[in-house]
Amino acid sequence: MARVYDALLGGSHNFAVDRDVASALTAIEPTAREAARANRAFLGRAVRFLADAGIRQFLDIGSGVPTLGNVHEIAQAAAPDSQVVYVDTDPVAIAHSKSILAGNDRATIVHADLRDPEAILGHPEVTRLIDFDRPVAVLLVAVLHFITDEEDPGDLVRRLRTAMAPGSFLTISHGTLDGRSSQVVEAVEKLYSRASAPGRPRDHASIEAFFDGFDLIDPGLVYLPLWHPDPADVPFPDPAQSWGYAGVARRS
Ligand SMILES: C[S@@+](CC[C@H](N)C(=O)[O-])C[C@H]1O[C@@H](n2cnc3c(N)ncnc32)[C@H](O)[C@@H]1O
Repeated sequence: MARVYDALLGGSHNFAVDRDVASALTAIEPTAREAARANRAFLGRAVRFLADAGIRQFLDIGSGVPTLGNVHEIAQAAAPDSQVVYVDTDPVAIAHSKSILAGNDRATIVHADLRDPEAILGHPEVTRLIDFDRPVAVLLVAVLHFITDEEDPGDLVRRLRTAMAPGSFLTISHGTLDGRSSQVVEAVEKLYSRASAPGRPRDHASIEAFFDGFDLIDPGLVYLPLWHPDPADVPFPDPAQSWGYAGVARRS
């Protein structure tokens, strides 16, 4: 899924099979590429918001193949002392992240799985760069929809929350098929069931529930382009076609 997303974004770290899935997605829904870009643009706006709010530690789970606007670049441009830990399961994402982070003492990538939060929280590279006694931003951007209901994503988020000091932030974006025709829903589900990680789009209420125990920052959980829009971003004519909801919340 890391490489399908990279293909949608126009990156070069993907294989023919990944590009095939990206093209099939685009054939079903022509806005798929714009939606991937809208998600990436949200990530950038959220990191700038978090840096402005004084956050200097970022734990980015499901960080993907490095591309335009990586978290450490944005965070360290805002505050050079920012520390960033990336987490992913995809070997291409890990290898490429390692190569671009070589020589950066304040950023690293860890091979770990969101389905095992304690392994992430206790990983020596995570504890080297993140002090959980201080506020941290946990980013779950376009990753929770790869966790099935049986794997209980709500419980995974709760287990991460227990490690987050007051003043920490949780950032989520999540795929949705809200407002889509049943034809599109069926076609997307069929396509994703062939991929290595089946996708699980969720509705607004289910995604909002992941923020239990946090206070959502205005404007709450909204379509991707509507979260703190930046006039510099490529305009998205119909935000409801962006395939995703996004929100940032604070732990009080
Ligand atoms: C769509 S990409 C999102 C990349 C980046 N967060 C962004 O939004 O631009 C999803 C990433 O989540 C990773 N991923 C999927 N399931 C995961 C899991 N259980 N644990 C950690 N990473 C996972 C994939 O390998 C992929 O790199």
